[in-house]
Order: sequence, then structure tokens, then C-alpha cells
Amino acid sequence: MNDISTPPVLWTAEELADAASGKVTRDFSVTGVSIDTRSLKPGDLFVALRDSRDGHEFVADALAKGAAAALVDHRLPGWPEDAPLLEVAESLAGLTMLGAAARARSTARFIGVTGSVGKTTTKEMLRHGLSAIGPTHASAASYNNQWGVPLTLARTPRDAAYAVIEMGMNHRHEIAPLSQLAEPEVAVITTIAPSHIGHLGSLEAIAEEKGDILAGLLPGGTAVFPRDSAFYDRLAERCRAQGAKVVGFGEHPESDARLLEYEGHAEGGAAKIELHGAQFELRLAAPGRHMALNALAALAAGVAAGADPGRFAASLGFFGAGAGRGQRLQIAVPGGTALLIDDSYNGQPTAMRAGLAVLGLQDAKRRIAVLGDMRELGDFGPALHAELAADAAQSADLVFCCGPLMKNLFDALPPEKRAVHLPNSAALAPAVKAVLAPGDAILVKGSLGSRMAVIVNALKEPAA
Ligand SMILES: Nc1ncnc2c1ncn2[C@@H]1O[C@H](COP(=O)(O)OP(=O)(O)OP(=O)(O)O)[C@@H](O)[C@H]1O
Ligand SMILES: [Mg+2]
Repeated sequence: MNDISTPPVLWTAEELADAASGKVTRDFSVTGVSIDTRSLKPGDLFVALRDSRDGHEFVADALAKGAAAALVDHRLPGWPEDAPLLEVAESLAGLTMLGAAARARSTARFIGVTGSVGKTTTKEMLRHGLSAIGPTHASAASYNNQWGVPLTLARTPRDAAYAVIEMGMNHRHEIAPLSQLAEPEVAVITTIAPSHIGHLGSLEAIAEEKGDILAGLLPGGTAVFPRDSAFYDRLAERCRAQGAKVVGFGEHPESDARLLEYEGHAEGGAAKIELHGAQFELRLAAPGRHMALNALAALAAGVAAGADPGRFAASLGFFGAGAGRGQRLQIAVPGGTALLIDDSYNGQPTAMRAGLAVLGLQDAKRRIAVLGDMRELGDFGPALHAELAADAAQSADLVFCCGPLMKNLFDALPPEKRAVHLPNSAALAPAVKAVLAPGDAILVKGSLGSRMAVIVNALKEPAA
């Protein structure tokens, strides 16, 4: 029987002080690590980071909410004299040291996941498949940056057998330090596509940056890389140069993990795949060929970390798309219901195409695309938006757009497909809601910064 009353100790005060080269004000132990008082759980170590606001301002609040201690780099007036503190030189550096110490003490098999799109999906597929064979730890949400990766590592339970770490980047030279911290034994690149190209400048630079996940790969480790990418050969060469194994996944005939056949339907798909010469059937509860490719990457990585391929493949049949990532919801519209595909979390050109393809598969009276700006594309932005017009026109009967960049797509659409273009999602929400009828399928998609969730939430509200 599991004892659910007391979670196991994650760190003692002494271990924390050692790990972060800090000083503790008194003895304590923590059962988790948090950086946000809104989601903090009693027993957590609250880490006071500096972001738009200084986390130190929330320390008193965190302690009042039951934090077992706080990691800080300075004191503010008003804190209790005997507050349980871990005092370090600088809090982000302290958290990073905790992450490194957690990695060093863990006996889990670590898998790192990066890529332009599909990181969280692949990470969650790995969590799903590996949990069936051993205690599995994985990044929360998309915690993949310079604080997300150390935080995830610092949270690694002592008994974890597998740990799946998402790693992301916005600029060049961000992946290498994250990978060196996580020291994965399996490194996955899901996709190489023009996300954040505004910062990186070229697809080639993006491929190099993703390839930097090799910087922390343990000796003798395995890289799972997209075989269909034009940059595959170069990346594979980098693997060989450092003595790493490489598993290419994709549709290319020379893929080690190969998608042989894919048949998509509105709510999922069926694939025939071949992994290292053995064939498997994959059933997927999430629609889209891109999901089959993510599943293939997850399977290849899981198997490289010791999973049984048949069992792992079978478990993916129960993996559904998450909130904001293609989740399907029936919503009430005047006179009946309609299907809402909530893909509001992310929008980059590759993801947009994937999302539109899923909309195109829906057996609906009308297929409606509601699209917001794809951000961080720099000078490439206008053209990358306009280039989506053909996909949008093919998959949708009606296209709603918002944001200055989406004007490029809107103007490139055939006139009969144009619904309306408005400045932002708040303005667009009522316009979309007003036209919905029973039997419609609606895809809502755009960069997180385009706040397309505003539209999803408006559509979920019962019709007035
Ligand atoms: N392999 C893929 N190819 C193309 N598009 C994909 C692929 N996987 C996911 N997507 C699209 O990208 C969206 C985001 O997926 P996911 O959250 O897994 O990506 P991510 O890389 O974690 O993104 P972020 O950088 O925001 O953390 C999905 O909703 C889907 O539309
Ligand atoms: Mg993510």
C-alpha cells in the first residue's frame, strides 16, 4: 500500500547546503521544489528567482502557504527571524547547482528531448510509455529553459528509474549548457524547422543549435534524430565523431525507426512502423501524421533507454493530445454542438501545417480555421505566414485571422475562404462565436503570445 500522507523527502537541509554551496538557517527537509507560490505545495522548497518580479517578495507568502524552506540570495525586511532559509550567492545559480547535484546522485536513465516542435508531445509520450515499466520523472509543462531544466532536475525523485527532460532554446548556444546539466544517455531531436528563426537567422543555425544536445550526451549514448531532415547527415556525422550511436527516425527508406504506412482519421491514426528491422503496429489516439512521427521518436528513445518495443508501442494507443495541443472538445452552439480542436498553445509554420492537416481530416459540415500570429520569425514572418495560405485554403472552408502577421495569410487566401481579419484574439473571439453552427469543426491555433486561448475559452462558454 502506498502511504499518501507523507511524500518522501527529496532533499535534507544538509544536502541542499552541500549541493548549492549555501548556508541553511536551521534544519529542515523538503519534499518538492517550487518557483511559484500559486502552485506551491506544503513541504516544497520555494526558490526565489528574479523574473518580471523578484521572487524574494513572495518568500513570506510561500512560507505561510507551507513551504518547508526558501532558497534566497538576500533577505528582505519582515521575514520571521527563524525563517528556514537556504542562503546562496545567487538564486538561479543555486537552483542550477541543485539540478546538477540531483543529476549526479540519480541512478535514473535520462532522456533529453529538444526540437523545433513536438518536444512536449514526445516528452509526454515517453513519460506515458516509460511509466509502465518504472518510476518516471519528466518536465512539467514546457519547463525547458535556463530555469526550467534545473528545476526539473532538482525535482528528480530519489527512486526515479527514468527521467525525461525537455530542452528548448530561443537563441544560439542555449541547448549545450542545458544538455551538459542533464547529461542524457539518450538525446532526441524531434524536428528541425523554422521556429525562432528570427533569433537564429537560418535553418542551418537551428540545426546546429539542436545538434548541441550532443554536448551533454553521455559517452556511448544514443541520439535519436529526424532522418527526413536535410541536416541529418551532418548531425549523424557529429554523433559518429564523438562515438555516439545514432538512430534515424522518419519516412526515409534508410530510417532505423521507419514509418512504413500511416492512415489518419478524425480522432487518431494507425501506423505500421519498423524499428531496427522488426515491424510493429501503432495505434494512436491523437490525430495527425506528425503525432505518428513523434511517437516513432518516443519509441526509438524509449527502446534506447531499455524499454520493450512491443509494450511501449502498445501503450501509445492510449496517448491522447493534451490541452492546447490538439485536444478535442464538443462545444455548445445554437441548436446543437460543434467540435473544437484546441491547438492554441503553439504556432510555428510546421505546427500550423500539422494542425491544418488535422482540421482537413475532420468529417464536418464546415471546417473553420481560426489563426493567430506565429511569433519570433523575424524578417521571415510575413512570407512564412503568406505561404500557409494554400494549406489553409485546402483544409478549411472558412478562415478567421488575427494579428498583424496573419494579415499576410489572410490577404493570400482565395476570397471565398476569408471570414475576417481583426487585430487581436479578444476582438476575434465574438466574431467567430457569432457564426458557429451545429456540425462545424473549429481549429484554433497560434503562438502562445497571440493569446488564442482567449478564443478557446470564449467558445467553451455556453452560447448566450
Ligand atoms: N512532429 C511535429 N511536426 C509538426 N508539428 C508538430 C509536431 N509535433 C507537434 N507539432 C505541433 O506543434 C504544437 C506544439 O507541440 P509541442 O507542445 O509538443 O511542441 P514543443 O516543441 O514542446 O513546443 P514549445 O517550444 O512551445 O515548448 C502541436 O500542437 C502541434 O500542432
Ligand atoms: Mg514544449
